[in-house]
Amino acid sequence: MNDGPGRVLVVVPTYDEALTLPGTLARLRAAVPAADVLVVDDASPDGTGDLADTVAGRDAAVHVLHRAGKEGLGAAYVAGFGWALERGYDVVVEMDADGSHRPEELPRLLDALAAAPAGAPDGAASAGRSGRADLVIGSRWVPGGEVENWPWHREVLSRGGNAYVRLALGLRLRDATAGFRAYRADALRALDLAAVESHGYCFQVDMAWRVARAGGRVVEVPITFVERTAGRSKMSRAIVAEALWKVTVWGARRRAEQLASFVRRGRTHRP
Ligand code: GDD
Ligand code: MN
Repeated sequence: MNDGPGRVLVVVPTYDEALTLPGTLARLRAAVPAADVLVVDDASPDGTGDLADTVAGRDAAVHVLHRAGKEGLGAAYVAGFGWALERGYDVVVEMDADGSHRPEELPRLLDALAAAPAGAPDGAASAGRSGRADLVIGSRWVPGGEVENWPWHREVLSRGGNAYVRLALGLRLRDATAGFRAYRADALRALDLAAVESHGYCFQVDMAWRVARAGGRVVEVPITFVERTAGRSKMSRAIVAEALWKVTVWGARRRAEQLASFVRRGRTHRP
């Protein structure tokens, strides 16, 4: 059974994406006409924010959130999520502006969010929140997932990073760093978004882990990630370092908590 996704907001963070944003927005509006769009621009020097305003002036479904300066992907998304929750959207989508996430694949992500999972009791019986996905990740590293034209060092970084995330956090996901995803708004509402302090791309891992720890159901669907053909990536050494450091700290904290609960349990069971 599939009762449709409800009101959808696609949040598109931008920093210097004047070359790619217009085409991505046009494709997105064509592929999922019912969805609204929020561009979150960090005062891009190349005028992306003005460009977004022009599109928004012509299309009532497109909105723009202007921020004072570059504060990283994580901060831009947290601001966009807040905007969505204040306005009562049911589903909040993350999508890059540069064409790497194909808008034409978004309906499949939304379907996966709305669908009852295989093996669950069908129909009205599973209408409760428990049976559905809370977060659907468009994954490059599940069977059927692909990357096109990605430099080999990015693939190594992504696969290595994901292996490390699985090891450190015990998160059973193939692509926890992926940035094409759909959240059930209630799942976001259940989290303390103000506490999310990841700036760069480890924001993605942070969010997946938070949803999972809150008892949310995270599902991966295969996508084809296409390397951008214009503009440039904002990935930097600092962003990789932040991710490595944060995942290590979270992992250590998790081990410490496991140990503490193990010791506690030992005490209770002692005669
Ligand atoms: N507002 C804002 N502020 N937007 C930003 C910022 C920022 O500081 N940094 C990046 N963005 C926007 C970009 O303009 C783009 O729309 C999107 O975030 C992704 O940035 P890219 O620089 O194109 O990322 P990438 O292609 O290197 O990385 C992709 O893959 C990573 C995993 O391997 C993204 O999808 C990441 O989210 C993902 O973690
Ligand atoms: Mn990109």
